[in-house]
Amino acid sequence: MSTRDQLKSGNGATGMSRRELLRAASAAVVAGGMSNFSFAQSAAGNSSTSADKGKVFPEKFLWGCATAAHQVEGNNTNSDFWTMEHLPGSMFKEPSGDACDHYHLYPQDIAMLADLGFNAYRFSLEWARIEPEEGFFSNAELDHYRRMLAACHEHHLTPLLTYYHFSLPRWFAIKGGWENAKAADIYARFCEKATRHLGDLVGYASTMNEPDVPQLLNWFNLPGVPAGMSVAQMMQAVLANVRKQLNAPEFADFFLGDGKKTRDGLLAAHAKAKDAMKSVRADMPVGFNLAMTDDQPAPEDSHLEEKRADVYGPWLEAARHCDYLGVQTYSRSIVGKKDLAAPKGAELTQNGMEFYPECVEHVVRYASQETKVPLMVTENGIATEDDTRRVEYYQRALAGLKRVIDDGVDVRGYMAWSLLDNFEWQLGYTPKFGLVAVDLKTQKRTIKPSAAVLGNIARRNAL
Ligand code: BGC
Repeated sequence: MSTRDQLKSGNGATGMSRRELLRAASAAVVAGGMSNFSFAQSAAGNSSTSADKGKVFPEKFLWGCATAAHQVEGNNTNSDFWTMEHLPGSMFKEPSGDACDHYHLYPQDIAMLADLGFNAYRFSLEWARIEPEEGFFSNAELDHYRRMLAACHEHHLTPLLTYYHFSLPRWFAIKGGWENAKAADIYARFCEKATRHLGDLVGYASTMNEPDVPQLLNWFNLPGVPAGMSVAQMMQAVLANVRKQLNAPEFADFFLGDGKKTRDGLLAAHAKAKDAMKSVRADMPVGFNLAMTDDQPAPEDSHLEEKRADVYGPWLEAARHCDYLGVQTYSRSIVGKKDLAAPKGAELTQNGMEFYPECVEHVVRYASQETKVPLMVTENGIATEDDTRRVEYYQRALAGLKRVIDDGVDVRGYMAWSLLDNFEWQLGYTPKFGLVAVDLKTQKRTIKPSAAVLGNIARRNAL
C-alpha cells in the first residue's frame, strides 16, 4: 500500500498507530512521495444523512479553523514584528514570545482540529523563517511546512495555505517593505520556491491575507485613537518613531507605511505571486483573503460607495481573475464620512467591534455580486471571554451563510477565526478569539464548548 493510500484509508487499515503513520507520512511527503495528490480528493466526505435537509450544507463543504504563523508559532525572531515588539516604548501591549508554540505543537493541534469534527485547516507560511536573509532560503523550514501539510492530509483535513499573513522578514521591511520598487519580484521569487517545495500538498493557496487593510485603516474607527486622527495617521506617527529607533529610514511594514503605496506594492506582488505559483502548479486553486466589513450607509452624508471603491475596488477586480476569493468579516460599519462609532447601546466585543454576526450573510452576498467567483469564508469569529456569546455568534453567522447558499451563491467553505486563543497583534494576548484556550505558561490546550458546537455542525455538515 502506498503512503498516499495509507493516508486516505487511515490508521485502521494499515495496523499502524496514529503516531507511526504520521511519522511515515511526513517522511514520505518530505521526500516528495505525494506529488500527485489532488486537493479535490482531500475534502473529507461530510455525512449529513440524518440531518434535516433544510439545514444541510453542500456536499464537500469545507469546515475549518484558521490561524496565522506569527500569531501562534512563537519565536519568530527574524520578522519585523518581533523587532518592533521589542523596541522601547513599543506599541505592542506585550511581545509574542513563545505564542502558542504551534511551531512544535502543530501535530497535536492538527489532530485536535480533526477530532473536533473539522475537515479543513487554514494556516500560513512564515516568510521570515523561510527566507531569513535576502536570497537565502532554508530547506529545513520549508520541510517544516511540508510536514504540517502532511499532517493535515493524514487527518483528512484540506489545507488552505496563506503564503503571507502580515509579518515580514526584517530585511524586507528595512528595505521599505511593500513600498520597495522590487518588492513584487522579491515576493514572487519566494512564492515560486515555496510552491516548488509545497505546492503538491496544497488544497487552496492564498497569495496574501487582507491586503486591503492598509487602506481600510483610513476609514476605520478604533478605541484609543486620539480625537481628530485616523488610525492610519496614528500609525504614521508610530512609523516615524520606529524608523528613528532602528536607524532604518526606509523601514515600512504592513500596517506602518503609506497606505496607497503599500496597496500598489501589494497589488503588483499579488499578480506576480499568482503567476509564479501557477507556473509551478497550474491547477492549484489560487486566490487571496479580503478584509470586508459589512458596510451600511449612515442616514446622512454617507460615503459608502467612496469607501468601497477606495478599499475594495482594486481587490475585487483582482479577485475576478482568481480561482476563488477568501472573504473575512467580523462586524458591520456604519459609514458616514468615515466609519462611525457603533450604535448607542450596541453589544461590543472584546476588541471594540459591534456584535453583529449577520455581517457574514451581507458581505458574502456583496462579494459574490461583485466578483462572481467561488467564495470561501476564510475568517469569521468574535473576541470574547464569554464563550456562550461565541456560540450565539457562530450560530447566527452560519444561519446567514446558509441563507446565501440557499439563494444559489457558490460558497465552498467556512473557516472560524481562530483555532487557538492567540497573539492579537498590537493587542497582545488579551482578546480571546479561540475555540480552544491556551495556557501560555504550560501550553495546555482547553477545548471550549463553542469548539464542540462548531465541530458538531462540521461533522454533520448541517446546522
Ligand atoms: C486578521 C487576523 C486577526 C483577526 C482578528 C483579521 O483581520 O487576519 O490576523 O487576528 O482579524 O482581529
